[in-house]
Amino acid sequence: MSSYVSNYQTGRISNDEIISLMDGYSKELGVRILIVSKDRKVLYDTSKTSMDTKISNWEIEESLKGKSVAKEYSSKERSIYIAIPILFENEVYGSIFISSSLEDVYKSIRDMKRRYFYLSLLCLSITGFISFLLAHVIATPIERLTKSINKMYQGDLEQRVELRGHDELTDMARAFNLMSTKLFQVDKQRKEFVGNVSHELRTPLSAIKLLSQSLLHEDIIEPNTYKEFLKDIVSEVDRLNKIIESLLSLVDIDKEKLEVEYQLTYINDLIEKLICTLKPLANEKNIYISFIHFEKIQIKIDPIKMQQALTNILSNAIKYTHKEGQIKVLLYEEEQEVVIKIKDNGIGIPKNSLPYIFERFYRVDKARSRQTGGTGLGLSISKQIIELHQGKIEVSSEEHKGTTFKIQLPCNI
Ligand SMILES: Nc1ncnc2c1ncn2[C@@H]1O[C@H](COP(=O)(O)OP(=O)(O)OP(=O)(O)O)[C@@H](O)[C@H]1O
Ligand SMILES: [Mg+2]
Repeated sequence: MSSYVSNYQTGRISNDEIISLMDGYSKELGVRILIVSKDRKVLYDTSKTSMDTKISNWEIEESLKGKSVAKEYSSKERSIYIAIPILFENEVYGSIFISSSLEDVYKSIRDMKRRYFYLSLLCLSITGFISFLLAHVIATPIERLTKSINKMYQGDLEQRVELRGHDELTDMARAFNLMSTKLFQVDKQRKEFVGNVSHELRTPLSAIKLLSQSLLHEDIIEPNTYKEFLKDIVSEVDRLNKIIESLLSLVDIDKEKLEVEYQLTYINDLIEKLICTLKPLANEKNIYISFIHFEKIQIKIDPIKMQQALTNILSNAIKYTHKEGQIKVLLYEEEQEVVIKIKDNGIGIPKNSLPYIFERFYRVDKARSRQTGGTGLGLSISKQIIELHQGKIEVSSEEHKGTTFKIQLPCNI
C-alpha cells in the first residue's frame, strides 16, 4: 500500500496497482466494480465475469455523458448501481461502474427495527409495571383513608388508619388519626353532657311531679303541709332555673369567645366588691373572710365575666367550709402575672376527685351538693372565663384541711 501511495503521489500508477486497489475495495465492501471504456467495453471487472464484453445500461450511458449517477433497484433483490465518469481535461474516457447488493443493508435495518420494537415493548412493560406498583403503593393508603372517612361520615368516629412509612401520605394518615381521636372525644363529651343535662333536669322535675301528685291525691290537707309541699316545689323550680341559667351562661361564654369586653380595672376593687356581696352568706356560717393585698393592681379584664368567675370560687369556699371557718383571699403580682389565691380551711377535696372538679356537672358528693343547691357547673364556668382571659386556674386541696384555688392572669393582654 505504501508503494502505491508513493507512486500515486508522484503521478506514476500502474495498471496492476489500480487492479489490486479495485479488488481490495470490492472484497472489503462486498461490491462489484467495473471499468468501462468509452465504447462500452468492460476493461476490468472485479467479479471477472464480464471481462472484454460490451455493457450498457442507463447509469453507464449517463456517466459517459459526464454525470455521476446512482439508482436503486428492487426487482429480485435490492441493489444499487453507481456510475462515475472517468474524466481527463474535461473529456470523458470511460466510466467506473459499481453495483452492490443492498440486501445486507436492508436486513440490518430490519433487524434494527425488530430490536427497537422489542426494546420498546420491554420498556413499555417495565414502565407499566413500575406505574402499577406506584399506583398500588399510593392508591392503597388513600383507599384505606377514604374507607375510614366514609365510616366516620356514617357515624363511626372510632376510625384509625395504620401508619406505615415516612412520606406525605403517612403524615396525612397521622393528621387524620389526630382529627378522628379529637372528634371521638368531642362526641363522647357531647353525649356525656347531654346525658348529664337530662339527668340533672329530670331530678327536680320528678320531685315536682311527686310533690304535686301527693297534693292531688290527698283530699284534705293541712294548710301547713300544703305550704310546705309548695315551698319544696318552689325550691325545685329554683334549682331548675339555676341549672338552666348556668347552662345558658356556658353557652354564652362559648359563643362570646371573641367578644370579651376588656376594661382597665382595679382588681383590688373588684375583689372587695365581691367579698361584700358574699359577706351575708359567710356571716350565716360565721365564716371570716380576709383580703390580703399590698398594692393597687390594674389589669385589663372583662369585669362582669371575671366577677362571675371569682364569685363561683368564693361561694364554693363558703359553701364547703364549716361554721366558724376562715377564708383568705390573696392578691399579688408575680412575673408579669396577677395572682389571686382563694384559700379556705373547709372540707377539702379528695385526691381522686381533684382531676375532675372542673368538669361540667362534677360534684364530689352529689347528695350533699344537691342539698346545698350545687349543680356542678360553677367551676367549669369559672375555668372557661379565666381561659378566655388567657389565664389559668389550679387547685390544691387536702381533705378535712382545706382547699386553695390559684388564678393567674397575664398583666398584658
Ligand atoms: N372550696 C371547695 N372545697 C371543697 N370542695 C369544693 C370546693 N370547691 C369546689 N368543690 C367541689 O367541687 C365540686 C364542683 O364545684 P362547682 O362549683 O363546679 O359545683 P357546685 O358548687 O357543686 O355547683 P354550682 O357551683 O354549680 O352551684 C363541688 O361539688 C365540690 O364537691
Ligand atoms: Mg360552685
